[in-house]
Amino acid sequence: MDINWYPGHMTAARRKMQEDIKLCDIVIELLDSRIPFSSSNPDIKTLANNKKRLIILNKADMADPQITESWIKYFKEQGIKAIPIDARVRKQTLMITNAVREVAADKIERDRRRGIAARPVKAMIVGIPNVGKSTFINSYVGKTAAKTGNKPGVTKGNQWIRISKDINLLDTPGILWPKFDSPEIGLRIATIGSINDDILEMRDIAAFIIDFMQTNYCNVLADRYMIKDGVKRDEILYAIADNKKCIKKGGEPDIDKAARLLVDDMRSGNLGRVTLEKPENI
Ligand code: G4P
Repeated sequence: MDINWYPGHMTAARRKMQEDIKLCDIVIELLDSRIPFSSSNPDIKTLANNKKRLIILNKADMADPQITESWIKYFKEQGIKAIPIDARVRKQTLMITNAVREVAADKIERDRRRGIAARPVKAMIVGIPNVGKSTFINSYVGKTAAKTGNKPGVTKGNQWIRISKDINLLDTPGILWPKFDSPEIGLRIATIGSINDDILEMRDIAAFIIDFMQTNYCNVLADRYMIKDGVKRDEILYAIADNKKCIKKGGEPDIDKAARLLVDDMRSGNLGRVTLEKPENI
């Protein structure tokens, strides 16, 4: 499946981001821990124009913990701080604030030397759709923060949020980019639910999941859907349809329904903690 498309509103959002990024000291990039490579916007490095980045590996509760550790190490080797979180959990504020201060340490020190006291760190927050950005902001902001309204020069729509006296966040809409470098990247992003399902072929996503699970987490599908030994990969959707009673009116197996069910199980974590890519394979 070649997912090649680009909704118009994302072009406008990207342009806004390009403008607004100039006003920020650092970029907080929210990635999905299950696909830390594929969920990272390749434009960000250019757009961020040498700004320091803090990577937040969200949905860490759904990812394979050992692989998350290797991603943290991978980013560290590139001089980038990455922290794993479950954005639904509150009370992580101090940990995140400390990470922001660490990443913005040069700016804070520069201000201090110049005698500029208490100028807040301006952090732009970016991430693909469905990565958990709203959840993260709500948890991080808690009750103490106040929306400060648009600042001059910030395109209408992107919202400044005051976290504390020393940190302001600039929220941006979740966007993707015009063309994925490989079909696998599109499939992984589709698997975690960041592309509108209306333009996806569920059977293709299901085939991708089956292939991935059979290679990397063997037995998970067999255990969940009671698949007998010897069933070939291209027969697995039929076995799932059989096990889950996905049957059309005439008695035919409903393969589309089985595909949808498998994709939903993957997205909701029913297949366990699964990470779709490792640093050594990118
Ligand atoms: P977005 O703004 O980036 O588009 O994402 P949003 O916060 O709306 O989150 C998308 C979905 O991911 C939500 O679930 C949210 O609860 C879930 N989510 C966000 N962060 C985490 C996390 O760290 N771990 C887990 N397990 N889930 C997370 P939903 O089912 O779409 O909505 P809801 O039923 O929770 O309201």
